[in-house]
Amino acid sequence: MIPGVQGDSQAYLNGDFLRIDEARISVLDRGFIFGDGIYEVVPVYHGKAFRMAEHLNRLDRSLAALRIASPHDRDGWVQLINDLLARNIQDTCIVYLQVTRGVAKRDHQFPAQPVPPTVFGMVSPWAPPSAAQRASGMTAISIPDERWLHCEIKSVSLLGNVLAKQQAVDAQVDEVVQFRDGFLTEGSSTNIWVVSGGKLLAPPKNNLILEGIRYGLMGELAAEAGIPFESRRIGREEVENADELLLSSATKEVLPIVALDGRPVGSGKPGPVYERLRAGYDARIAGL
Ligand code: PDD
Repeated sequence: MIPGVQGDSQAYLNGDFLRIDEARISVLDRGFIFGDGIYEVVPVYHGKAFRMAEHLNRLDRSLAALRIASPHDRDGWVQLINDLLARNIQDTCIVYLQVTRGVAKRDHQFPAQPVPPTVFGMVSPWAPPSAAQRASGMTAISIPDERWLHCEIKSVSLLGNVLAKQQAVDAQVDEVVQFRDGFLTEGSSTNIWVVSGGKLLAPPKNNLILEGIRYGLMGELAAEAGIPFESRRIGREEVENADELLLSSATKEVLPIVALDGRPVGSGKPGPVYERLRAGYDARIAGL
């Protein structure tokens, strides 16, 4: 029994569906030994995957970055997601997909003879942020970004993110806001947004952040709402003086950050730009 895990939920492992508490991989799996793998987290609303094509595009990009041949074509991935959903009675949930380089003798370099990748999928229970969470917003602390220089890859090597998130937990806040060389990067598992002078700002899409699937979506929602959007480097001062701060991810959707380092952000309440983007996000979910 693993607390919080429904042991009889049906997972996918290398072609089979089986109870998650019975799924096993080799101790020599390179995902286990080296963190040599990638993953995706796809939110599902009322049985329908949200932005699935975008998530699968990013899965392909991550695999290409690791030079792992995709074990499925697009239809195969869609089928796998649908099969997982069909086998689990979860209306609104998260689909987690992971691919590692596979099982081989422990040697840092890629196996000379390619081995089949390990392919894993599961459905996890999830509830979108509640009305109360939306109204009260998130709190955060700022920390230096100590992760590696390939944050654009959705890699399972997440130690930097894990340690960052634990700092938030230890400080009794919801998330961290990371800075590298004085410029905003992202949260431990979220993208961060700044509202300043009526504009929505985000750090550029480069190797220092993961391009969230909500990154593109927020751009679309801003355009629809007539909110100017700029993607550029954002200095610490701009973050500290922001009118609003927001975070986004598959699981947090879009939420306001109302306090940073113990000080209120703007009015200390969810702001008007957040409200408009939030309405747009809700409309997209309703239209699924
Ligand atoms: N994390 N940046 C990082 C470092 C992330 O881990 C995530 C998502 C994001 C937002 O990406 P998206 O909008 O595609 O969810 C940004 C997922 C939810 C996770 O690891 O559980």
